[in-house]
Amino acid sequence: SPSPVYEATCTAPVNIAVVKYWGKRDTSLILPTNSSLSVTLSQDHLRSLTSARCITSGGADARDRLWLNGEEEEIKQGGRTERCLSEMRKMRKEFEASNSSLPRIADFPIHIASENNFPTAAGLASSASGLSALIATLSTLYALTPENGVSVSDLSRIARQGSGSACRSMFGGYVAWEMGLKDDGSDSVAVEVAPVEHWPDLHALILVVSDKKKGTPSTAGMQRTVATSALLQHRIKEVVPARMQRITTAIQKRDFDAFAEETMADSNQFHAVCLDTFPPIFYMNDVSRAVIQLVTELNRASVEKGEGVKAAYTYDAGPNAVLYVQEKDVKQVLELVLRYFPQTTESFPDPFNLGAKPASDV
Ligand code: PMV
Repeated sequence: SPSPVYEATCTAPVNIAVVKYWGKRDTSLILPTNSSLSVTLSQDHLRSLTSARCITSGGADARDRLWLNGEEEEIKQGGRTERCLSEMRKMRKEFEASNSSLPRIADFPIHIASENNFPTAAGLASSASGLSALIATLSTLYALTPENGVSVSDLSRIARQGSGSACRSMFGGYVAWEMGLKDDGSDSVAVEVAPVEHWPDLHALILVVSDKKKGTPSTAGMQRTVATSALLQHRIKEVVPARMQRITTAIQKRDFDAFAEETMADSNQFHAVCLDTFPPIFYMNDVSRAVIQLVTELNRASVEKGEGVKAAYTYDAGPNAVLYVQEKDVKQVLELVLRYFPQTTESFPDPFNLGAKPASDV
């Protein structure tokens, strides 16, 4: 009879932080210097799709291999992919040891193919969706799932070791990554703050200012910031803990004005910390700053009319803007953005044709 095929395919979405993770206290385990909080976007527009298959046949091909967007990438010894693979294998081995009816697949080499449907490494959180898709796929392949006693937070602990922000993409909706206090990282996990259904009319508009690869990768950038920025120390001690509480309350109450205020202030402080790094790191460009001016002016006029805040901007390690907007305001904000920044590209079609979709859609 033909030998059985062991393979799995999963997708994982991008998440965009509203309280930013920037700084590691342990670079090997990826333990952050502060807690962070993000919104996981819908999978319709920005996602990673990952397949993994056990190679049962032996021969020259019988080694772990990885293809990213169709190009083979080396799996570096001690690198993030290797770390995630070996952690998942270890868990599968323990599972097999405790359950004699399971097929012995933990030691087979694995071939992995992953693709993003959006520009990779352009400050659009591709590592978050990529590494969380890898962990979701391996958890399916190895049956390391909640039914078998492996929780999503357990899996997030492993995804975290692939890319810090990836731990948050293991959950949908509103997600906190609690920094934890322990040196072994066992309490540095993602937890759900609220499911997407709790506040479904929040949309994320992604304004692609540039789809080029970013200048300073986040790992190198964080390392330099931790080593040189005094402002970072103020941020992690005096600012983030209270902000995590305020933004959690804002989400619980669906208070958009408070959510927007914290989101914009945190983006500003993250980029201030980058400027306070030596040599400084510039992620935003003139277009990014013009978008901030436009949102600021829109909100000022709207608050003056008693209509409240319309949009919240946030920027990661790149020039692209993400605007969080309530469903009732999406059309107005999009029209305004397109009036001042009229270019659209083929890879990002006419935004009005996407239709208004519920649940934190892009
Ligand atoms: O997980 P990394 O190494 O890609 O770092 C992500 C850092 C930011 O995107 C800038 C902030 C965040 O919390 O996602």
